[in-house]
Amino acid sequence: MSSSYDQSDVSPAALPEYLIRHATLRQLQVFEAIVRLGSFTRAAEELFLTQPTVSLQVKKLTEAVGLKLLEQAGRQTRPTEAGREVYAACHEIMRTLVDLEMGIANLKGLKRGRLRLGVITTAQYIAPEILGRFCREYPGIDVSLKVTNRDRIVERIIANEDDVYIVGGVPTVDLPLVTHAFAPNPMVVIAARDHPLANQRNIPLARIAEEPLILREPGSGTRDAVTKLLEEHGLRPTVRMELGSNEAIKHAVVGGLGVAMVSLHTLTLEGVHGPVAVLDVEGFPIMRKWHLVYPRDKELSPVSKAFVEFVLERHDAVDALMRSMLDEAFPKPAKAPRQQKARKKS
Ligand code: PGA
Repeated sequence: MSSSYDQSDVSPAALPEYLIRHATLRQLQVFEAIVRLGSFTRAAEELFLTQPTVSLQVKKLTEAVGLKLLEQAGRQTRPTEAGREVYAACHEIMRTLVDLEMGIANLKGLKRGRLRLGVITTAQYIAPEILGRFCREYPGIDVSLKVTNRDRIVERIIANEDDVYIVGGVPTVDLPLVTHAFAPNPMVVIAARDHPLANQRNIPLARIAEEPLILREPGSGTRDAVTKLLEEHGLRPTVRMELGSNEAIKHAVVGGLGVAMVSLHTLTLEGVHGPVAVLDVEGFPIMRKWHLVYPRDKELSPVSKAFVEFVLERHDAVDALMRSMLDEAFPKPAKAPRQQKARKKS
């Protein structure tokens, strides 16, 4: 039966039995050092071996190959033609060993390890699911998740308290950051299901500004995005209350206290047909993005690297969920077939 490991060029029949039996990795290492440094003495120094040991290793390798490998040119030791062949092969083998060592180190690091993740408040709606999938793939890894507001996240970045951070907008920090945008974070306007605006289409933003507004607390990324948007449009709504949690905002909205602008992720569990209605407001949804960030000079652990790669490659479930929620919240009006025909002709 064939397996994916079959490689005809390394089948037992193709392998040089005399090298397998007699050549050793140590001999190859010594030989490589002699050729590179042009001297037995320097090779012995570099490898912390005695000169007789170095000579013996080369003698054994020469016997295994069956050809002269080195020659003297004055004080310089040089490879013969056969020696150059062996040197090239040594290089390949040593490089493969280095790669193997890195692979093993990574596997060891990923079998056991710890990931400390700091996330901004609203990212609590996506981070646990991402972590869940990551932990299913790497079951030996312990994770800690710190959910806090942006000001605290900035403090944690500066104090190097976590490995990686998930934030909405990239925070302004006094140190260079690596930032990766990875999944949509759409901002929508919400109201109680029985709100008079819940069934209207294309509601002007100015009309929303007439409603009492429920805002997130100062320092929240969502709040910054909302206030910036309203300022850009020269609108000054009445702020009914400020709340430090998206869940509290949803309950206040359902309680009829006002409307709010929040991330669509806040409705992930109940969907867009529950007690909270997504309003069809001009210019919405505002398509923001999630970002993974960490200080540029931070040496990421194998676990953190694996997590960053995992998030960047595997956020398709988050993307798909947002796409389907957006489609449900903002259904496209069906096009009349006649209109389509007319457009085709022109
Ligand atoms: P917040 O940040 O939870 O602090 O509002 C999230 C975001 O910027 O979208």
